[in-house]
Amino acid sequence: MSDPRPIGVFDSGLGGLSVAREIRSRLPDESIIYIADSAYVPYGGRPLEEIRERSIVVTGELVKRGAKMIIVACNTASGAAIEQLRARFSLPIVGLEPAVKPAAVSTRAGCIAVLATPATLQTDRFHRLVDQHGEDVRIVKIPCPGYVELVESGKMDDERALEIVREPLMPAIQAGVDRVVLGCTHYPFLRELIRQVLGDGVEILDSGAAVARQVERVLVQHELAAGDPADRSEPGSFTMLTTGDPGRVAPVASGLWGSPLTVGQVV
Ligand code: DGL
Repeated sequence: MSDPRPIGVFDSGLGGLSVAREIRSRLPDESIIYIADSAYVPYGGRPLEEIRERSIVVTGELVKRGAKMIIVACNTASGAAIEQLRARFSLPIVGLEPAVKPAAVSTRAGCIAVLATPATLQTDRFHRLVDQHGEDVRIVKIPCPGYVELVESGKMDDERALEIVREPLMPAIQAGVDRVVLGCTHYPFLRELIRQVLGDGVEILDSGAAVARQVERVLVQHELAAGDPADRSEPGSFTMLTTGDPGRVAPVASGLWGSPLTVGQVV
């Protein structure tokens, strides 16, 4: 049995494309429908209640368009709303979580940093993660003002970009961390700039590949996979939608995705 319905993916904006590309490369047979909630980006400074409301609205849009499962490709929305989404919608829902565990297990310095939005850092889900792994390891929590906006602008090559990225990383350098967790799906698009600031001695971890593996497990478990792996002749489609202005979103999204994307509007 194969199920050709798309996997629904959403984020506040374009950061979730860092997750969608991992899913795409691991599961090329799967069709994906992606909604960027660009009219409300960034989520990270909003009250958790509002992030929950938006997550429910956008998930509803994906379900209306025939999604067979949902990937909340946003640490902020996962932290704020995953329980509510699972209570309200009956399809499988996979969320994101900062990769604190692999960082805490592998650090030799005994000190790691987690970069995330202010909203993520205040969720119960994040506090539980820190309680689980922070006993023997010091965890420096860093909100990163300007990072999401930088990715949304697509101006990562601008002169100012390195300055925007550098400032919030100072506490991590001062603390002597040897692992930095990218706890927001926008940040993998800043990986090269972050590496320039921190140097090669610091390992930078994100959750994209682990989520793609989890998506594969859930598809198999629920018998939702799109195709017979022996027959990869027809790759899945990629549909991109935004609650914002498609004319503004499309060029940046295409740059991040690495090939031209047509962007439709969710009204
Ligand atoms: N990309 C999101 C995350 O993973 C949210 C960024 C934002 O809108 O503040 O947390």
